[in-house]
Parts: sequence; C-alpha cells; structure tokens
Amino acid sequence: DIKGFVFDLDGVITDTSILHGTAWHQLADSLGVTWTKELGDGLKGISRMDSLEMILKAGHKENDYTQAQKEELAAQKNTNYVAEVDKMTPANILPGMKAFLDDLRAKGYQLSLASASKNAPRVLGKLGLTDYFPKIVDPASLKHGKPDPEIYTKGAELLNLDPAQCIGLEDAAAGVQAINGAGETSLGIGDATELGAADMVFADTSAVTLANIAKHLD
Ligand code: G6P
Ligand code: MG
Repeated sequence: DIKGFVFDLDGVITDTSILHGTAWHQLADSLGVTWTKELGDGLKGISRMDSLEMILKAGHKENDYTQAQKEELAAQKNTNYVAEVDKMTPANILPGMKAFLDDLRAKGYQLSLASASKNAPRVLGKLGLTDYFPKIVDPASLKHGKPDPEIYTKGAELLNLDPAQCIGLEDAAAGVQAINGAGETSLGIGDATELGAADMVFADTSAVTLANIAKHLD
C-alpha cells in the first residue's frame, strides 16, 4: 500500500523549471553556446554544477575554464535565478498542487522533498509551503545527482518507509529514472514521450489527484 509521496519541486509543485531554463539559456548565450530544446530538457533535474558541465560540453568548451571560473559562472546563474525566485508568491503554485497536497495531508500520507535544488527551502517559503515539507533531502549530502536513485532512496528513508510504499513525482526524465532505480512508483508530469519510463504520466499538474492515481494502481 502507498503511504508516502516523495516530491520533486521544480516543474512539479511550481514552474521554476522555466526560471532555471531561462537563467541557463542566458548563461549559454553569454558563453557562445547554442541553446536547443534538447539541451534545455536534458538539464531538468540536474544539479547546478552538472548542468553547467552539460552546457559547456554542448559547446565543446568544457576544457576552456578553470574550476574556479566554473564556480563563478554557476554562481552568476544562481544570482539571476534567485532574483526571479524572490518575485514568486503562492500564486506560483502549479494548478491543483495545493489542493493535492492538502488532500494528501488530510488523508494521512507522508510527504518528503527530493529536489536537487539548494534553493528548495527558499522556493517553498515564497510559495507558503514550508510547513508541508519538514522532511527535505539535503542535496549537499548526495554522492550522486539524478538520474542516480540516491535522492529518492533518501526521500523514502526520511519517511521511514519502504520505497515500495512511496510514489515519486517528477517532471524530468532524469528524475523518473531516479525514482524507478529507487524502487518507488514513478509519476511523471509532462510529455508522455519524454517521460515514457514512468509508471504513470499526467499531462499537467491539474490531473494529479488521488482518484486519478488510484486508476493506475492495482
Ligand atoms: C532542480 C532543477 C534543476 C536545477 C537543480 C539545482 O533539479 O530541476 O534545473 O539545476 O535543481 O538547483 P539549484 O537551485 O541548486 O541551482
Ligand atoms: Mg523537476
């Protein structure tokens, strides 16, 4: 039986995936790296430094910068991203997600957060959702980022649940792979082709309800 839900944040609870994408796109432009939709999609769920490496590789520039310069570039992107996050309000919660979280809480399900973002507590604060997620996997504690299962394994551990008792929610292919690797049920939100590995896919957040999820479980 399902007892817990392990949530991704960016692109699942709120549309910060767009803000991350815009900030990376700007950085890629400033470095002379051609931006493509594939590059942008591939960055979803990927940690800050791994994202920078992917952008540099796409432009064959991975050897053009020292580690200190790379850290400076990542910091620059983060400054731009945080400026956008600080404009957010509870109105930036994606459609249906507040009601879904309230329903889960009312029915006694346990919640944890498995976001690769070091900004996750800040984003939750802007959305007014801090109280919903006392249990957050610290991305700084991870040996490997998504698609490695580690973050979802830890998300279940925080709830003292077996992975088989948990549903993981993701908008990114790398995240779905991580959920599957952890042995949880994967719920993808977005394009069914991109998220084909998920146990169930919903086109958008407004379709994510316990009733719709129950239709996919037996
Ligand atoms: C999430 C987002 C990624 C982002 C990563 C790190 O996984 O989907 O786009 O790069 O978090 O976020 P941070 O806020 O720590 O730079
Ligand atoms: Mg995401």
